[in-house]
Amino acid sequence: MAALKEIVKGRRSVRTFDGNPVSQEDREKLCAYIDGITNPFGIPVEFVLLDAEEYGLSSPVISGEKLYIEGKVRKGPYADAAFGYSFERMVLYAWSLGIGTTWIAGTMKRELFEKAAGLKDGEMMPCMSPLGYPAKKKSVREALMRKGVGADARKPAEKLFFDGNLDTPLAGAKKEKIADLIELVRWAPSAVNKQPWRIIAADSLYHFYEKKDKGFVTAATGDLQKIDVGIALCHFVMGLEEKGAQPAVVTADPGILIPDSMEYVATVQVNA
Ligand SMILES: Cc1cc2nc3c(=O)[nH]c(=O)nc-3n(C[C@H](O)[C@H](O)[C@H](O)COP(=O)(O)O)c2cc1C
Repeated sequence: MAALKEIVKGRRSVRTFDGNPVSQEDREKLCAYIDGITNPFGIPVEFVLLDAEEYGLSSPVISGEKLYIEGKVRKGPYADAAFGYSFERMVLYAWSLGIGTTWIAGTMKRELFEKAAGLKDGEMMPCMSPLGYPAKKKSVREALMRKGVGADARKPAEKLFFDGNLDTPLAGAKKEKIADLIELVRWAPSAVNKQPWRIIAADSLYHFYEKKDKGFVTAATGDLQKIDVGIALCHFVMGLEEKGAQPAVVTADPGILIPDSMEYVATVQVNA
């Protein structure tokens, strides 16, 4: 894979494809990669590739696609974050092959996708994505959608990373130490680009929290903003792995005072 920073900063959601099928070679590489995807929660996420025409699959915001990928996970504690983490690993690897994706939770005929994926009782299929090569020019609809959610911008680090408590933005040497990881997290994708992750640093621990907004939880999708936190966690952990570190991810709430609108998700332990 190319440098993670290039992949993360170069990636964008692709909603207009060039109409060509994913090559056999790329498909094999992607399938081999997703077979090996795991997440720190130890919850398996199953991937299914489905031919758009064969299964009559489409999305009103996507054009020129021939293939879809869906992710399935057993419902339960941490299923959302696990899903976000694993699906994002797939998204980043696909981009490294030149394959575009878009996380889609809402703009689709959900029953059709769930049926095609063979969803069973007790499982959920929170999001799917088209897979294909980006068209040279974005459709008008795609350009408008990006503008609508400010897709080319992100929150500044001061609004996302904190030192010990939520009143103190991470600054100085502590911020400098993880400057590259901060950038990787800032540029992660999220539902309507809300970036609902907040990270409180305490020594070598980085506690990940969800900043909840209304309207992001349904039985079919789970908590989309916890999925977002799983995505941010994925970028942070992959950044550490690239440096040769072996971060441990644990779920042990440190009990730091947070408002009701926030929820603790997981902690990354950075060993030296
Ligand atoms: C969990 C999740 C759900 C999303 N659902 C949709 C969707 O239903 N339709 C859509 O067009 N984009 C969807 N997106 C894509 C976001 O709008 C997009 O990632 C965000 O605006 C940032 O843009 P970028 O991915 O180009 O960086 C979703 C993203 C995530 C992470």
